[in-house]
Amino acid sequence: MANCQRFSDVSVSERILNSLFLLSIALGYLFSLGQVFFVHQGRDGESGLSISDIVIAYHGSPEQTRLAAAINGPMAGNLRSPADKEIILDWIDSGARQAIFDVQVAPILQRDCLGCHSPASGMNLPPLTSYEQVVKLTEADRGASIPSLVRVSHIHLFGIAFILFFVGKLFVLCEIPVWLKRLTIGIPFMSMLTDIFAWYLTRKTPEFAYLLVLSGGLMGLSLNFQILLSLYQMWLPAMKMESLQSALRVTTGQMKTNASIVAVGLIKSGQRLISWWQALLAGKGMQRFIEKLKKLLFDVADSIKNRLPNDRRLF
Ligand code: HEC
Repeated sequence: MANCQRFSDVSVSERILNSLFLLSIALGYLFSLGQVFFVHQGRDGESGLSISDIVIAYHGSPEQTRLAAAINGPMAGNLRSPADKEIILDWIDSGARQAIFDVQVAPILQRDCLGCHSPASGMNLPPLTSYEQVVKLTEADRGASIPSLVRVSHIHLFGIAFILFFVGKLFVLCEIPVWLKRLTIGIPFMSMLTDIFAWYLTRKTPEFAYLLVLSGGLMGLSLNFQILLSLYQMWLPAMKMESLQSALRVTTGQMKTNASIVAVGLIKSGQRLISWWQALLAGKGMQRFIEKLKKLLFDVADSIKNRLPNDRRLF
């Protein structure tokens, strides 16, 4: 064990670097939750994120078409008025005929969608420029295609493996029981693999959406546990005055002046941060987003309990 490094062996500069990295990853994780919310919410026609949105995203839905799922969900914000959404949905329900398309639907698409969904945009999205192209999206929604899942799988594996590796490299410097450390190192990788595997399973069998949500959640929890514990162990034992002083190599007199400068700076930026946060909350959007996130967690737990037959309620 002679060569095992611990956080106490790490220099202050290196701790700053490590902490900024870990904080960026934690922030990135929060944004990725937001991304999941905005991409999947509302696919089932009801606002907010639920397990049925996940099922539709991966497995598809016999009653939903790709066009309806898109304008109920991630594309809703591009429509200038909600009435236009009803016009498009009515058109799909009434058999998606060309005569109605030309008069009622095409002008809406022209105005709100073609900026991105046309070959001219260069965005490689399904084009909505002609009747034939749009009508293809009004067939039953068969969920995520294998090529799109393969594309996202390779991005996730290459990207997330790096994140888990570097966060794990720092986490091994923590001082906790060795069995707990070994277990915690493995969990994020296992749950990342299970999550990706569950996409393909959900595509075939909708019930695997629960496995998908559970393994994704477990990855988030274990990753953030590693981040929080590393930050805690990296800084808290070193917070003692002596070690801070020797780290900065200053005399007590200088220390006092420096400390008061730092303290004033901290208080001022704290005040800025609080007023910024208040402004954000006053914007209501963020408040609603947090409410929905909370509701999602309860919904997931509830539907897992309710949908399992009594004799199979394992959790
Ligand atoms: C700002 C650019 C932009 C605008 C405007 C836009 N979209 Fe999209 N659309 C996208 C992107 C990007 C995706 C891919 C999103 C994804 O895969 O999650 C997408 C995906 C879709 C899909 C899903 C395609 C599939 O493979 O199932 C449909 C359908 C769609 N949009 C319809 C529309 C409609 C209808 C409008 C107009 C109301 C619209 N979009 C406006 C960028 C845009």
